[in-house]
Amino acid sequence: MSNPIEEGKKLAAYQAVDDYITADHKVVGIGSGSTVVYVVERILQKPELKHIVYVPTSFQSKLLILEGGLTLGSVEQYQEIDVTIDGADEVDEELNAIKGGGACQFQEKLVAEAAKKFVIVADFRKKSKKLGTEWTKGVPIEVVPMTYKSVMKSIATKLSFKPISSKLRMAVNKAGPVVTDNGNFVIDTHFGALEDPAKLLRELKLLTGVYEVGLFCNMAEKAYFGEENGSVSILS
Ligand code: 5RP
Repeated sequence: MSNPIEEGKKLAAYQAVDDYITADHKVVGIGSGSTVVYVVERILQKPELKHIVYVPTSFQSKLLILEGGLTLGSVEQYQEIDVTIDGADEVDEELNAIKGGGACQFQEKLVAEAAKKFVIVADFRKKSKKLGTEWTKGVPIEVVPMTYKSVMKSIATKLSFKPISSKLRMAVNKAGPVVTDNGNFVIDTHFGALEDPAKLLRELKLLTGVYEVGLFCNMAEKAYFGEENGSVSILS
């Protein structure tokens, strides 16, 4: 593999699986996105991990689990997950993360919260001093469809944070908005560098119509980053 970004994703994912998923685990959460593909690839290389039940965080990760011949579970069946491994769009030095580049933030948060340990895997581009500097697409805010205009207005007028830009996320072909696995829309709002992401999260969650926010604050215990030089750096 000569692409350093893909190589970085794979290195981080493989090491996190090797360090965190063990044969005595019963239930493991599987995140979403392109890096998580390597998480499942590594799991499939280890026959001793085949008996574990895997809980997905999106339609994409459900397919990864099923197509790999692994056992599918849900948070309704399993309220306690041993470990969840997921990707991220940006991770700061305190292990706060922006997630939801794939619009899966709600289930991702649900499965991360149910886990005793939440671990992030990413390539070197996702490391950041402050959230909002590397992932310039903004904070993904999932909203009930009929509220997208009113939430955009509230974001502009009711927060102690000044938005730089706010956009309804559109499908790649621009034929309509992206619709999440929960039938909702996503507003991507850029606030610039975030000094206090947990405060922004609290304020956003008070707005009527906001379903979930792609800010994961004080949740991860470790992040693995696949570096350009072929090493893996760990933040904990
Ligand atoms: C999806 C996510 C992904 O984990 C995040 O976008 C990172 O994706 P990738 O591994 O493809 O860079 O939060 O909602």
